[in-house]
Amino acid sequence: MLSACAPAVSTSRLVLPADPRVGEVEAARHGTGRTRSFTLTATPSRVDLGGPIVDTWTYDGAVPGREMRVAAGDTIEARLVNRLPVDTSIHWHGLALRNDMDGAPHLTQPPIASTTDFTYRFTAATPGTHWLHPHTGTQLDRGLYAPLIVEDPADPGAHDAEWVVVLDDWIDGTGTDPDQVLADLRGRGGHAMRGAGGRVLGGDVSYPHYLINGRIAAAPTTFTARPGQRVRIRFINAGSDTAFRVALGGHRMTVTHTDGYPIIPVDTDAVLIGMGERYDVLVTLADGVFPLVAVAEGKNATALAIARTGAGAPPGPGSRPAELTRVTIGYPDLSATPAVALPAKSPDVVHRVALTGAMMGYEWGINGRANDLDARSLVREGQRVRLRFVNNTMMWHPMHLHGHTFQLGDSGPRKDTAVVLPGQSVDCVFDADNPGQWMIHCHNTYHAEAGMMAVLGYQ
Ligand code: C2O
Ligand code: CU
Repeated sequence: MLSACAPAVSTSRLVLPADPRVGEVEAARHGTGRTRSFTLTATPSRVDLGGPIVDTWTYDGAVPGREMRVAAGDTIEARLVNRLPVDTSIHWHGLALRNDMDGAPHLTQPPIASTTDFTYRFTAATPGTHWLHPHTGTQLDRGLYAPLIVEDPADPGAHDAEWVVVLDDWIDGTGTDPDQVLADLRGRGGHAMRGAGGRVLGGDVSYPHYLINGRIAAAPTTFTARPGQRVRIRFINAGSDTAFRVALGGHRMTVTHTDGYPIIPVDTDAVLIGMGERYDVLVTLADGVFPLVAVAEGKNATALAIARTGAGAPPGPGSRPAELTRVTIGYPDLSATPAVALPAKSPDVVHRVALTGAMMGYEWGINGRANDLDARSLVREGQRVRLRFVNNTMMWHPMHLHGHTFQLGDSGPRKDTAVVLPGQSVDCVFDADNPGQWMIHCHNTYHAEAGMMAVLGYQ
């Protein structure tokens, strides 16, 4: 049985009264006039990961949950039925949507109580590869996540096939659940749960399984296409504590989008994907059977899928294509396309976001404060805002801002989640054009729940 520990975040906070600007921003959006309706049921489920059978929580019995796919400008009407024994919510990761639909419990909506339901309704204004997950405790790490693809009606259609590849790290369902792991990390100063491979890089938690689209490497998902076809691969890292390095054996990849936004295309052998990040790549497929491998960074374990365009025996679970150790692009190699680059402008306000805490004590925070969720009026509508993330800790922190897509540096890629490496800092800018109260947090689920979250609010 899964235990239902109390959430780490206080539940006494009240949702703010509605900000009338939220409705105005929504009304000004260009819609298609089409409404797409979905129902998701969050429910305890028994799931087959391709061998291991686990008792966990899912959307509608599947890990990942069913893909949600709409066109840019469609209105999404999504009813969430909560059959979990605890509160939940859905956050639409990557969408700059109206604030009251953002799914941050106690901040943008009351929690959705067990046995009740809630209907989200908002315009999916911009295209891209996004995903959805609860914003409640460690629920994401139980398998509650699904891809959310917003198609671009203006896409030149440069690909023949499309594969959605969702990466995950998986805690064994037998006797260990994410709430216990978090309690252990906090109670034992972060060291108890670190596996042998758990260097001071990506991860605090050691996982027995790594998954692509819900399958372990011994029973991989097979993607098919024809030789010579151009495939668009949409990578989503839904892992809670693992950055993945991914490569497709025998192929180079052309990176075209970061977190849903187009970049000037760059060729690479491998891509490193932090928790919460997405990369779209184009690949022209050779003839044969190829391993699509995701290495858990710092943990030395792999997840696998098979890319098949012809005859041949599938590669085995230990496959390590040479591409993994060739060129891996990084943020400095990437630039937004002119269409989505922010116009040059000096910032009206600069906020320093220091990532603080340590494994010892396992008390993560932002600017020295843990769970700093009181509404903060840090920006004004219309401002160009610069955030300076400073990481003086020994761990990776993939930092995510809700409701906006920032630009790294002055001309780098547009993103909503950016890995800040140990001892490094990352600067980004965004235009404050979406009034509300927005979460800013580390997308390592355990760091976030141990306190590395704060609120960026509009005056
Ligand atoms: Cu994907 Cu605040 O999260
Ligand atoms: Cu972190």
